[in-house]
Amino acid sequence: MTFEQLKPQVESIISNSQLTVNERLLELCKLLETHINYYNWVGFYFRNGDKEELLLGPYVGAPTDHTVIPFGKGICGQVAVSNTNFVVPDVSAQDNYIACSITVKAEIVIPIFVNGKNIGQIDIDSNTPDPFTEADERFLEFVCAKVSEIL
Ligand code: SME
Repeated sequence: MTFEQLKPQVESIISNSQLTVNERLLELCKLLETHINYYNWVGFYFRNGDKEELLLGPYVGAPTDHTVIPFGKGICGQVAVSNTNFVVPDVSAQDNYIACSITVKAEIVIPIFVNGKNIGQIDIDSNTPDPFTEADERFLEFVCAKVSEIL
C-alpha cells in the first residue's frame, strides 16, 4: 500500500474517539507494520514527565528490554536531544546504538512535537538494509503531526 493510500487510514484511526489514545497509537503501529513490508518493528517512545528519559509506549513487533532509554543513548535518545529526524541505513555502522534484535538492519526515528516541544517519537526498525527514503520521512512526519493532535 502506498503512503498516500495510508494517510486517510491514519486520519481515521486518529479521529476514532471510541478508542483511548494508547489504543489509537497501537492501531497506528499495526497499520504501518502490516502495510509497509520493510517496517518490522513500529513503536512510540515518550518523554517521562520532566525526566531526561524516554518510556516505551504502544508498539508492535518483538518485545524489547529497552522500555526506558536515557536522553542521549541510542538512536532514540539522540533524537530526544537533537529534535531532528534520524535515518540509519546500517545500524552496524553506528557507535551510539541500542540493539533490540539481531535481525534489525536499519532504523528511522522521527520526533513528535506538541506546542513546539519534542515530547516523543515514532521508532521503526527494518530487517531490510538501507530501506528508508525521504518519502518515509515525509510520511512519518505526517503521522507524527497527526499524533500530536491527540496528545
Ligand atoms: N535501537 C533503538 C532502541 C529502541 S529499539 O529499536 C526498539 C536505539 O538505538 O535507540
